[in-house]
Amino acid sequence: MTVQDPTLTAVETPEADAYRAALEVIAAAEPTVADHIRGELDNQRSQLKLIASENYASPAVLLAMGNWFSDKYAEGTPGHRFYAGCEFVDKVETLAADHAKALFGADYAYVQPHSGIDANLVAFWSVLAQRVEAPFLTGHDAKHVNDLTEAEWEELRQSFGNQRMIGMSLDAGGHLTHGFRPNISGKLFDQRSYGVDRDTEMVDYDAVAALAREFKPLILVAGYSAHPRKINFATMREIADEVGATLMVDMAHFAGLVAGKVFTGDFDPLPNAHIVTSTTHKSLRGPRGGIVLSNQPELTEFIDKGCPMVLGGPLSHVMAAKAVAFAEARQPSFADYAQRVVDNAAALAEGIAKRGGRIVTGGTDNHLVLVDVRSFGLTGRQAETALESSGVIVNRNSIPFDPNGAWYTSGIRLGTPALTTIGMDTADMDDVAEILCSVLQNATPTTTGAGAPSLAKFDLSDEVCNTARTRSAALLAANPLYPQIGAL
Ligand SMILES: Cc1ncc(COP(=O)(O)O)c(C=O)c1O
Repeated sequence: MTVQDPTLTAVETPEADAYRAALEVIAAAEPTVADHIRGELDNQRSQLKLIASENYASPAVLLAMGNWFSDKYAEGTPGHRFYAGCEFVDKVETLAADHAKALFGADYAYVQPHSGIDANLVAFWSVLAQRVEAPFLTGHDAKHVNDLTEAEWEELRQSFGNQRMIGMSLDAGGHLTHGFRPNISGKLFDQRSYGVDRDTEMVDYDAVAALAREFKPLILVAGYSAHPRKINFATMREIADEVGATLMVDMAHFAGLVAGKVFTGDFDPLPNAHIVTSTTHKSLRGPRGGIVLSNQPELTEFIDKGCPMVLGGPLSHVMAAKAVAFAEARQPSFADYAQRVVDNAAALAEGIAKRGGRIVTGGTDNHLVLVDVRSFGLTGRQAETALESSGVIVNRNSIPFDPNGAWYTSGIRLGTPALTTIGMDTADMDDVAEILCSVLQNATPTTTGAGAPSLAKFDLSDEVCNTARTRSAALLAANPLYPQIGAL
């Protein structure tokens, strides 16, 4: 376990008082958990966090989760619960939804999903309910699925399984929940995927349109986990409309850039998509959770039935924290943050490129940078481990047309939301690029017993690791994580 930085001092702030008291109470019940909570903070404070899907939520967001809202069952929606005693859950859920609507310019917000995968499941089943179940019920003169005969129900069940979806391929940066076989979405839908152009590594909208015309999906998904460019959602909507598909945008990664008005017009999911899903914990800087938004009245009654369709009782404590996070994101300072995230990603990409790294697509429009680490003679697996041993936390990632497959990969994915939250700027990003490249340039693959280059093992001197750690520590000392909490 990392030990607390001895130079860190205790501070007298409401946040520090709150966490000192909380840890004392937890330690009285199970001291090891209190130790691990401290250990996690020490770890996060000592590492350069470049995981594109992570961030640092404010103490207000974190504290909103640690209370008795967690004790309350509240299946249903505000005012229509299956449990009594939901007065304050109703209020907090309504507040979170109102903030989300104002933040994203949405007519409707559903804030119950526990995570991104849940939000996507709610979205898929809402579309299935609207476009498959509802017409079937009307056609059989039934109001409810329980009114169907066994034979009719079986017919409806079969038709759920016969629906089609198109999403971005995994190696191009798509997400498992967009119809890939290991995930339930791939077991449910017949799926085809679009990739990127081999030369530009950008989305080829003509190819997406051609695939959509041929495959005629019920749902066209736009959104990604590892594509460093913005997507033109207006063009995606034209394609969806032409083939009668519902356009779903999964903005899990870049929701903060939408909230902060970096992505506007054709690049803003809300005015263009039928249904929009997101996580709340990545660039949006909220608690771990999901949301579903829509401006289509014909869909919202189905989204509202996320429970019992896909979900059980909502996490009321997390909905409280979502309300806090959305309120924070509505402040002008969040727009400034979102712009700095993007500026920092551009500076990081430039800093790596000038030190010999190949940047997938040649740059970035968003919060993430995808580096083809073959330019350093490494696999993604080697780069990830070498950087971790030097205190730089990234994740390995496939790049388009990756010859090394999804396990070893040829890339690393970097993101700037977390380092931007702690105050780093574009000059700091050049230092980060220098630290990162010094490790990658000095890591050399070893050979396997058969004499072939290893895809996993490498040599890296302690001196290089230690120098990287010292430089990272200096950057982190100038941009401390949770300074208002101080030493605990
Ligand atoms: C695009 C996208 N959708 C959905 C998810 C799933 O989110 P969660 O991990 O909260 O279930 C992720 C998470 O990585 C994601 O990147």
